[in-house]
Amino acid sequence: MMNTVATKPFDGQKPGTSGLRKKVPVFQQPHYAENFIQSIFDSLDDFAGKTLVIGGDGRYHNREVIQTAIRMAAANGFGRVLTAQGGLLSTPAASHLIRKNGAFGGIVLSASHNPGGPHGDFGIKYNASNGGPAPEKITDRIYECTRVIGTYKISDAAPVDLDRAGTVKVDGMTVEIVDPVSGYSALMQTLFDFDAIRDLIKSGFTLRFDAMSAITGPYAKRILEDMLGAAPGSVVNAVPLPDFGGHHPDPNLVHAKELYDLMMSPKGPDFGAASDGDGDRNLIIGKNQFVTPSDSVAMLAANAHLAPGYAKGLAGIARSMPTSCAADRVAEKLGIKCYETPTGWKFFGNLLDAGLATICGEESAGTGSNHVREKDGLWAVLLWLNILAKRRQSVADIVKQHWQEFGRNYYSRHDYEEVDADAANAMMADLRARLPKLKGEKAGSLTVSAADDFAYHDPVDHSDTAKQGVRVIFDDGSRIVYRLSGTGTAGATLRVYIEKYDAKNLGLETQSALYDLIAFAGNAAQIKQRTGRAKPSVIT
Ligand code: G1P
Ligand code: ZN
Repeated sequence: MMNTVATKPFDGQKPGTSGLRKKVPVFQQPHYAENFIQSIFDSLDDFAGKTLVIGGDGRYHNREVIQTAIRMAAANGFGRVLTAQGGLLSTPAASHLIRKNGAFGGIVLSASHNPGGPHGDFGIKYNASNGGPAPEKITDRIYECTRVIGTYKISDAAPVDLDRAGTVKVDGMTVEIVDPVSGYSALMQTLFDFDAIRDLIKSGFTLRFDAMSAITGPYAKRILEDMLGAAPGSVVNAVPLPDFGGHHPDPNLVHAKELYDLMMSPKGPDFGAASDGDGDRNLIIGKNQFVTPSDSVAMLAANAHLAPGYAKGLAGIARSMPTSCAADRVAEKLGIKCYETPTGWKFFGNLLDAGLATICGEESAGTGSNHVREKDGLWAVLLWLNILAKRRQSVADIVKQHWQEFGRNYYSRHDYEEVDADAANAMMADLRARLPKLKGEKAGSLTVSAADDFAYHDPVDHSDTAKQGVRVIFDDGSRIVYRLSGTGTAGATLRVYIEKYDAKNLGLETQSALYDLIAFAGNAAQIKQRTGRAKPSVIT
């Protein structure tokens, strides 16, 4: 039976760059998730009888909200819900499922790389029919709906057995439960030369993939071990756990330190990789060679033609503004355009839909292509493996040759986490006000040639997005970028991105190569005075 339940708005259900993210106890309040899901439905038109994909990254509270979303989809008039066994879908696999089945949209439950568990983070995101994160005009509408909501609709049908593949009915609506991996692995086989990768592995090439007790475990085990022949045990932490084993499922050098240390040791394998909580981010490390995400986008783009899915070349490359300009150099050489977008994957959607860009990437370990409308961790791993299989060189050699050919963009991000939000906002406001005065100032031998607040004009839908981060640009193209995170759940996170191009000195240590710029960045924004922080919480 369908019920209409009376409710009242909650404060602050404003979806950020990646949906609504809050602590689990916030989501556990009566009506909280229901209000947000109803607001998603209220913001949409003409979905009666259509298909909705629902899935999540398996974190704590996943199953409860999936059951709720299924019962609400039925009561709101969807014709079919598509979900996967255990309700488990990586973000890229959910994107693929939406696209492949011509679904109206999808609800993806995840807080990405944030920790999980009863006191961890949870999130709800809406993806549109192209498989990508909802554009701002939809998320704004969702927010408006959360502010006026008075009732939600929900069926009182019994919970669905999510573990059994097959089709069941919930109050007249069809619920189809599929295997989470098979559709995704079939897509990967169309893009990459699985035979070549299998031969490479057969020749003695070794790898380790750390699934960080998160969603990519089952995907990586099936693809890397079962299909490509990597030795059993090559995929570690392969079982998705509701609390990610108490770890932070963020594939960076802090949280994937064990993998990093192994890759830097003589007994390490040839190739190391990891993915995050919901499977859209990647970490790539060769033997004794970490690949920065910004470099990875550039190197993947430069070599993509070696994979069957990209053999015809790329239409264009897109990178988020704070991502290093390494990809721009590749685009220039390939004679294609490099688009610079605001932070957040949703800005790539229009470029991909319009066929303007093929490969996209962000400095925050997100890389992907037009095969889905989300970034895709395993995709990046497989493209690297495809390139290694064709070039038969080590990761370190490929990286070094790339720098020799294109020069090196030294790059680092300094994060100041959980700083006081008012102090951070005031710091940014002051910095914005002082931008004209920065021109002509010096950082070592470099001079500021321009300083602005990045604004984006979308070449496809012609929308404008302002205030996307402060850029300080130097005469040699070096850059400092400041922005506040849009995904944090406590206080504010200040991100400072520092970049310096060098065509000659290719083997410097990154923080030393950036020394003058780092000092300038601190002084120009008065980070210490404003936030009380003498140094960043995380340096990547
Ligand atoms: C962070 C990353 C950004 C990414 C987003 C979602 O956002 O910096 O590149 O798109 O997570 O994964 P931020 O916290 O910086 O707003
Ligand atoms: Zn993620």
